[in-house]
Amino acid sequence: MDRLFVFDTTLRDGEQVPGCQLNTIEKIQVARALETLGVDVIEAGFPISSPGDFNSVVEISKAVTWPTICALTRGVQKDIDVAAEALKYAKNKRIHTGIGTSDFHIKHKFNSNQEDILERAVAAVKYAKKQVEDVEFYCEDAGRTDNVYLARVVEAVIKAGATVVNIPDTTGYCLPWEFGEKIKFLMDNVKGVHNAVISTHCHNDLGMATANTISGVLNGARQVEVTMNGIGERAGNTSLEEIAMILKCHKGLNIETQINTQKIYSTSRLVSSLMNMPVQANKAVVGRNAFAHSSGIHQDGVLKNRESYEIMDPKDVGIDENSIVLTARSGRAALKHRLSILGVQVEGEKLDTIYDGFLKLADKKKDINDDDVLLLAGMERTEQQRIKLDYLQVTSGVRVKAVASIGLIIANEKFEAAASGNGPVDAAISALKQIIKRNMTLQEFTIQAINKGSDDIGKVHMQVEHEGAIYYGFGANTDIVAASVEAYINAINKITK
Ligand code: KIV
Ligand code: ZN
Repeated sequence: MDRLFVFDTTLRDGEQVPGCQLNTIEKIQVARALETLGVDVIEAGFPISSPGDFNSVVEISKAVTWPTICALTRGVQKDIDVAAEALKYAKNKRIHTGIGTSDFHIKHKFNSNQEDILERAVAAVKYAKKQVEDVEFYCEDAGRTDNVYLARVVEAVIKAGATVVNIPDTTGYCLPWEFGEKIKFLMDNVKGVHNAVISTHCHNDLGMATANTISGVLNGARQVEVTMNGIGERAGNTSLEEIAMILKCHKGLNIETQINTQKIYSTSRLVSSLMNMPVQANKAVVGRNAFAHSSGIHQDGVLKNRESYEIMDPKDVGIDENSIVLTARSGRAALKHRLSILGVQVEGEKLDTIYDGFLKLADKKKDINDDDVLLLAGMERTEQQRIKLDYLQVTSGVRVKAVASIGLIIANEKFEAAASGNGPVDAAISALKQIIKRNMTLQEFTIQAINKGSDDIGKVHMQVEHEGAIYYGFGANTDIVAASVEAYINAINKITK
């Protein structure tokens, strides 16, 4: 079997998604989960982009043991210096530097020419090489770069010392056969190509990221750049879980990763929960419906023999239908154990706080599932907000006007207001706006029930516009009106930061 390296960029390309930003503690949780999942490389951030990103790369470097920690840079010395500094504590470190190579990037981004870009590429690799041994070079927009010029760049950067060369389809433009031919062209025409690993980094703008990645691998690429749940810029990146399961299902391809596929589901839930980014129900491998058979014919077939309609065993991705649900009678140890399976390690006071929240929720809801447990673990984020919901009372119904009264605590002071509206959410938000007198408009409002049953927790995502900027808010509650108000407050807290 040929070994394929898995380079995870959930914490860099994935985290660039608006509204998905994580704090350092949350990034460490994700990095540890990725380590347990078995990825080879964790791209931990773009250190020059912000002090927060710099700090996350430092802390992830300390927290993670064996995967290589990678930091992104532009092909400029200052970025490379800062990345090397951020990687100081990493046991295995890599700098990922690069430049745009397509005519479009060369002309419009750099107002330059092919020879100058080639020189800058070589200079960036040589400079990075002085700081770390492992240097990856990306040819941005390689998907739209002329293959002959691309081969010249790849050859030159390998000669300069690049250990990995990344061929990104930055705009998600390529067709699978075309991307495969691009990789084959490089494998056949670049002198010294075997001195480096060729990597794919495919975006999903036309829904072809996974197909393009597989096509690249079949033509010689031996590293894939992927994200959990396929998150990433615009339509996202290639999904880690799809690549891992394609190679597991198609053993005949003779290519293996060291991903422990049974950790896929819990890692997916952790990332979705921390980033407040729902996974679409029909998402391959990790969507809620990925293993749900609804038609009678399918159900009958699966009951007779699972393989009639299933090519993967849900257990292989870590979905265990018999997994124990927690109830009001479950103890602290059971909660702690469940959290640790989901990648969240908690002790002492923090565990006590989560357990208190758990008992309150168990009073309202019979069975507590993994999503609920992850939500409870994330609740302390709202505890620390400057503006908090104190109480909310709403009256609504058919042929009655909805009215709401609300109490907020702002920097330890209490404020109250009441208002009516065309429904309970409208009334509650109107009351809230009487206290917070800012010019804000609700742009998007999504309610998502995370499981089954009328006692379930509803999750609300909101986008609030204020002075031309968009702020993302999230709320979760068994009362959907309260969840909506929490999401609104969560967004406002970001404005007032
Ligand atoms: O999509 C892309 O080209 C990138 C590079 C920075 C690797 O994310
Ligand atoms: Zn990208």
